[in-house]
Amino acid sequence: MKKRLTTRPLEILVTGGAGFIGSNFVHLLNREYPQHKITVVDKLSYCGRRENLADLEGGPNYRFVKEYIADYQVMSRLITPGMIVVNFAAESHVDNSIKDPLVFSRTNVLGTHSVLEAARVNKAKLFVQISTDEVYGSLSMQSGASLETDPLRPSSPYSASKASADMLCLANVRTFQQPVIITRSSNNYGPNQYPEKVIPLFITNLLEGKNVPLYGNGTNVRDWIFVEDNCQGILRVINQGTSGEIYHIGGGNEIPNIDLTHQIIKAVLGHPDPSRVQPVPDRLGHDLRYAINSSKLHALGWMPRTSFGEGLNKTVAWYREHPDWWKPLKQGREK
Ligand SMILES: NC(=O)c1ccc[n+]([C@@H]2O[C@H](COP(=O)([O-])OP(=O)(O)OC[C@H]3O[C@@H](n4cnc5c(N)ncnc54)[C@H](O)[C@@H]3O)[C@@H](O)[C@H]2O)c1
Repeated sequence: MKKRLTTRPLEILVTGGAGFIGSNFVHLLNREYPQHKITVVDKLSYCGRRENLADLEGGPNYRFVKEYIADYQVMSRLITPGMIVVNFAAESHVDNSIKDPLVFSRTNVLGTHSVLEAARVNKAKLFVQISTDEVYGSLSMQSGASLETDPLRPSSPYSASKASADMLCLANVRTFQQPVIITRSSNNYGPNQYPEKVIPLFITNLLEGKNVPLYGNGTNVRDWIFVEDNCQGILRVINQGTSGEIYHIGGGNEIPNIDLTHQIIKAVLGHPDPSRVQPVPDRLGHDLRYAINSSKLHALGWMPRTSFGEGLNKTVAWYREHPDWWKPLKQGREK
């Protein structure tokens, strides 16, 4: 099959490109395809940091637009025929979705619908929806891994909003034959992740000499993928994926939270220290386990390249070297 990202210059619009995965994706895209013009649309919520893309500012093939994706008129002006649109923009933190669920519907459902429609009406070449393994809900310890065809059973307002967006995307494929692909990845970690998520929260707490708050008994299992591996998977899907299909992008690193916690402590402090773990009451509706089968994407030639140990060491090194990035964010949250 002919690749979609050829040497011919293309326009690519990335929503949520100032966030964690979006900014890593924009950097990778710019490195691998410098001929393509990238427009980043981001409302710069507390997670969106324009400085994540500071090195691209002023370049001939990069443009930043501070806008809200649920504004259809704006999205319709920005999307032009033949563009590739990659929709990362979302409210992404499960805990926040329990405290303030409606914000999640506005951005993740209505916002996605608005970008999807603007892409359809303005004849974008492809719309890629960045979804999550959380749409399948909790798996038991014995139940293997989810397939792309499995039913969706989201548990949190966050995962329900992402599942709803996926349904809208698939409906547009059926009704309008719109070219759309969905990726569902497992938990990402790596540089530039806002320090509310478990890995950067624990790393930065330890760097500050604090303890780490572990939900419940720590038996919940997540599959971890280094962010650059996910971004490579998204590029692979853009190039070779089939419209109308869903692709899993899993890291193949299923780790119970308690083991994850001890690995982070060892990676930051250089030695084990169980006294740094501070148990806290469990998250409401906390899913026990997520796991996805990624063989459909493996068949397109993609595999995750980064082992968990290597990715964790790279991530710890990045947070150690960039206190100027994360310290103000943590201070802002503690006010
Ligand atoms: N982080 C993970 O482990 C993970 C795993 C699977 C899927 N995902 C999905 O990947 C995507 C990116 O996640 P992330 O971890 O980088 O999140 P993030 O919170 O770091 O980034 C989200 C970005 O979207 C922007 N944004 C939010 N609402 C917006 C709006 N209404 N209009 C325009 N911009 C808006 C924010 O400013 C931010 O820059 C999300 O769709 C998320 O559901 C994340």
